[in-house]
Amino acid sequence: MCDQDLQTQCETTQVRDQGMGAALFGYTKLYGQVPGGQAEYLRVPQAHYGPIKVPHGPPDDRFVYLSDVLPTAWQSVEYAAIPKGGTVAVLGLGPIGDMACRVALHRGHRVIGVDLVPERLERARLRGVETLEYSTEVADHIRNLTEGRGPDSVIDAVGMEAHGSPAAKFAQQAAGFLPDAVQGAFMQKAGVDRLAALLLAVDTVRRGGTISLIGVYGGMADPLPMLTIFDKQIQLRMGQANVRRWSDAILPLLTDADPLGVDSFATHRLALSDGPAAYDMFQAKRDGAVKVLLNP
Ligand SMILES: NC(=O)c1ccc[n+]([C@@H]2O[C@H](COP(=O)([O-])OP(=O)(O)OC[C@H]3O[C@@H](n4cnc5c(N)ncnc54)[C@H](O)[C@@H]3O)[C@@H](O)[C@H]2O)c1
Repeated sequence: MCDQDLQTQCETTQVRDQGMGAALFGYTKLYGQVPGGQAEYLRVPQAHYGPIKVPHGPPDDRFVYLSDVLPTAWQSVEYAAIPKGGTVAVLGLGPIGDMACRVALHRGHRVIGVDLVPERLERARLRGVETLEYSTEVADHIRNLTEGRGPDSVIDAVGMEAHGSPAAKFAQQAAGFLPDAVQGAFMQKAGVDRLAALLLAVDTVRRGGTISLIGVYGGMADPLPMLTIFDKQIQLRMGQANVRRWSDAILPLLTDADPLGVDSFATHRLALSDGPAAYDMFQAKRDGAVKVLLNP
């Protein structure tokens, strides 16, 4: 699988007892519970393959996003298959959607960004994204900007916690009241996602266009509008980020110049001991938090 650049499907580290793909750092037991991410030290399984050398010179912060935000956003744009001179709509302007916009702009595409958080919309607008506030009419606004046809590609950088899906929100919350063991089984067989962003993508992408899902989905019983997906000949691509697949291509953009604006990407720099409060702030989207860097 790694030979085919599908590192997330790695046959050496697949989490077979859960029927899942490759183990991931800092994820739940579905993905192997490998501790990772925010710690002073971390164990690095498969260390002959995962780590890469970065050049001396630029500050370390420049490269920190190579472990997640950059390759994830990069993959979302690659999978979106935006034609030359084409338009992409990016749903969700959190760190992943924001960086996806930057990558698409850097490649010369027209980018429309959608979110609900004013600071996130403004941040994207300042970089040249045409921004739209999420509302029940947002699909029409997207079509109005694209000659009624819809964008060539849509990137869903929201995932299963989308705003605007009241029934699924209730089902997810109800599952939260079940005992842990039952809840896990329930979500694996009957769980549903909040599909507002995915449904918006299906509704707005132009006929024959491509939807790239980078926001995570985890439901096993999601009702999807197959008639529309089939009739519009939508191409649908998705998955966890194959991080090592993209890092070599991204690295040259992190050296002298900083075309993706990585140096000013973090909105907050805090001590590791501030981690719990930083997570709360990010979750509540308080204080303009888009990306928090923790210094060990
Ligand atoms: N595939 C991968 O490998 C990978 C890697 C990292 C993150 N992710 C996923 O990417 C997604 C985004 O991550 P993030 O860190 O940017 O999260 P985030 O929660 O900060 O960003 C999501 C944004 O979507 C907005 N939003 C909510 N509902 C919306 C709607 N209906 N329409 C438009 N915008 C809406 C929110 O206001 C928020 O700004 C998450 O699902 C995350 O799990 C995937």
